[in-house]
Amino acid sequence: MPIHAISPEELKTALGGPSHQRIHDWCAALEAGGILYFPQTPLPIPPADLDVLLGQQQTGSRLHKNIAYKPNRDELTGVDAKSSSQQIVEQVHDVMRRYSKSVEGFLAEFLAPYQKRWVLDYASYRPIEEQGRDLPVRRRNDLLHTDAFPTRPTKGWRILRFFHNIHPTRTRDWVTGDPFAKVVGSFTPGKLAIPRPDGALAKAGKSLAKATGLAGLVPQWKRTPYDEFMMQLHNAMKEDDGFQGVCTKEYFQFAPGSSWMVYTETVPHAVLAGQYALEQTFLVDPVAMVTPESAPVRVLEQMAGTRLV
Ligand SMILES: [Fe+2]
Repeated sequence: MPIHAISPEELKTALGGPSHQRIHDWCAALEAGGILYFPQTPLPIPPADLDVLLGQQQTGSRLHKNIAYKPNRDELTGVDAKSSSQQIVEQVHDVMRRYSKSVEGFLAEFLAPYQKRWVLDYASYRPIEEQGRDLPVRRRNDLLHTDAFPTRPTKGWRILRFFHNIHPTRTRDWVTGDPFAKVVGSFTPGKLAIPRPDGALAKAGKSLAKATGLAGLVPQWKRTPYDEFMMQLHNAMKEDDGFQGVCTKEYFQFAPGSSWMVYTETVPHAVLAGQYALEQTFLVDPVAMVTPESAPVRVLEQMAGTRLV
């Protein structure tokens, strides 16, 4: 998977210059499955905020779980209220709010061609060591996969994630796999079928949702054929030892203090080791792409010969 490293000088020149050609090119690279890598993050975390996240305060409190921040509701989940004081909970909440806002502000400028045609999704803080985590197969992060949300279908909108390795000394170690179309090709039509909007399953789901009025409550009924396929692909990749064994793998270590961004619903990825990472997710309208044909919904529609959302 191509990694495009962007130095602070290049970033400054691109953002300050009269022509946005460089930014347009970076968007195209991102959409084509590349990773935009900032060896020095453009969004340094204030030292006091880092202290809160790394648990180095005098209270000795440490964060043990992954933490989610929902910007639309200004809501924080995952901080253990029993073992953390109210003060810590509020501090973490403030830090996450600031982080989310700073990424949103930066990307509004950096991804100018998208004109903010996105939904600001959740931010997360991942304080857990990734190496050796004991998780059920579908929740494992160390197996190559593309992202799909089980309960929040994107209906073709793309999942863009901005990461930041805030570990003071250690790298965050990733592996990426083959391009999206190639991966899909290795699962279809043999192991997976792209569901059709007029298929029996889709029809049955729709009528059941209508009859019961529970459309919003059962995740599968909220999914478009696109979402259904993306969920199945996520699961199939993780559960297929053969695929994990033969898929091309590229290893990369993200330096302490670096940031990177990637469309994780398209780029097969896994995290092998690392601790203390921040992340902000955006759901981006596929129509906003500088290369709209690269969006996975268009790739799959091309393969299936029908609309999927
Ligand atoms: Fe993932």
